[in-house]
Amino acid sequence: MNFHILTLFPEMVMRALSESVIGRAAENGILSVAAADIRDYTLDKHGKTDDYPYGGGAGMLMQAQPVYDAWRAVTDAVGRPVRTVYLTPQGEVFHQAMAESFAKEEDVILLCGHYEGIDERVLTEIVTDYVSIGDFVLTGGELAAMVFVDAVGRLVPGVLNNGMSAENESFHGHLLEYPQYTRPAEWRGHKVPGILLSGDRRKIDAWRVKEAEERTKERRPDLYRRYRALEDCREILLRRKLQHTDMTELIARGQAELICAQGENICLKDTMSGTCFHTATDIENGCAMIETVLAREKERAGKDGASREFLLVLHQDFMVEAARERFGAELLMACYQAVHTRREKLPVSGLYDAAGRREEDRPAIRTLLPCHLDVVARYYRIMDDPDENLAYLKERIGKGQMSGLFQGENLAGFVGTHIEGSLGMLTVRKEYRGRKFGKALEVHAVNQALENGFTPYCQIEENNMVSIRLQQSLGLCFSKQKIYWMTAKV
Ligand code: ADE
Repeated sequence: MNFHILTLFPEMVMRALSESVIGRAAENGILSVAAADIRDYTLDKHGKTDDYPYGGGAGMLMQAQPVYDAWRAVTDAVGRPVRTVYLTPQGEVFHQAMAESFAKEEDVILLCGHYEGIDERVLTEIVTDYVSIGDFVLTGGELAAMVFVDAVGRLVPGVLNNGMSAENESFHGHLLEYPQYTRPAEWRGHKVPGILLSGDRRKIDAWRVKEAEERTKERRPDLYRRYRALEDCREILLRRKLQHTDMTELIARGQAELICAQGENICLKDTMSGTCFHTATDIENGCAMIETVLAREKERAGKDGASREFLLVLHQDFMVEAARERFGAELLMACYQAVHTRREKLPVSGLYDAAGRREEDRPAIRTLLPCHLDVVARYYRIMDDPDENLAYLKERIGKGQMSGLFQGENLAGFVGTHIEGSLGMLTVRKEYRGRKFGKALEVHAVNQALENGFTPYCQIEENNMVSIRLQQSLGLCFSKQKIYWMTAKV
């Protein structure tokens, strides 16, 4: 990912961003940060970039011409449209989901204002996003740009090198972090809570959730209210657990945004993919929720003017016809949901040492790397458009969400976690079939999800008997009710 910062103080931002995690990532070529000096682009012979505001008023304004020319230099070099962020207290307040959305971009331009602001005409021409880092006023946009680069940059695959991708941070919805302690066990008479020394994983997890809840309630009542609303939904959804595992997992992964909730009528949006998940008691309530979703999507589409398709996952048969007739939605696939309902890991299978086999020929499962993308894309197709398919797989591999089974140096098959959390993409190349590699990969994926604190589940198309049999053989429980992936247009 490449950050391009347009500023009057390039040294200030470059000095700060060449240190620590972001600096190291830039040194390793995982991302780049470049600051262009807006003053270099002024046509004024004295190097002036500001002037008095028309109509009077305090202070000076940055002029349109140098800002526009600095911006043009970057977009011309990139060669395609680039999301351009103006850092301003008048923008949408920055939050984690916004950081995640920007982390998907290849390039982002950050425009830092100074003095009393920038001539409105150039903002209208170039800015796609107005972002504030909080309800306070800084002397310029540089500190805000640094915050932006730090928060977005750490989400770029490979930037955090502690073995846990940002995606696997098992945080509990919208809660603040629980308190943490390190050695010594007693300091100035203060002891570390005994439970953390007990070694009992389950009790430690429960203690951490409780502490995080209490802390959030006290310090951030706004977040706590959102968390409680989602927890209330989760309790309702758990009444029909197998049918709703995709929705409860969205909440558990902290990537659910509540769109509507009225009793058992619930609609959540996956903040990572934008897909909406919908469960309803009857057609009228179900359609009312779809209308709300459409209105919201329309509002978003209106911002950048483009009409777009979005995905809607329905959890009742009776909603499919209604969504088709009333909203022109189209059915993509009908799936059963298969869930590993126990907390215990599955016994590893299919990777045993065959007698006489050399160490290097033994099948082994490893996390896939960007160099495996082309092979994976050759054997797995989730989207019709090859470029979109490649981009999806690139993102999944980049986030460490795919594993491959290797026979020697050869990739025999692979499995992964979809963006919304279900296990899938299970593929074994023809020449390697009949050796239980599919089972070995699926067991690996289930066990990895458990290690990350998630409930392993997958969605299997209704006619995929091979996969249905495999999941049954592993003891996964099937939902009776199918779920329906639909596309809708706004
Ligand atoms: N520039 C000045 N104040 C700012 C803020 N709060 N957020 C983003 N940019 C700014």
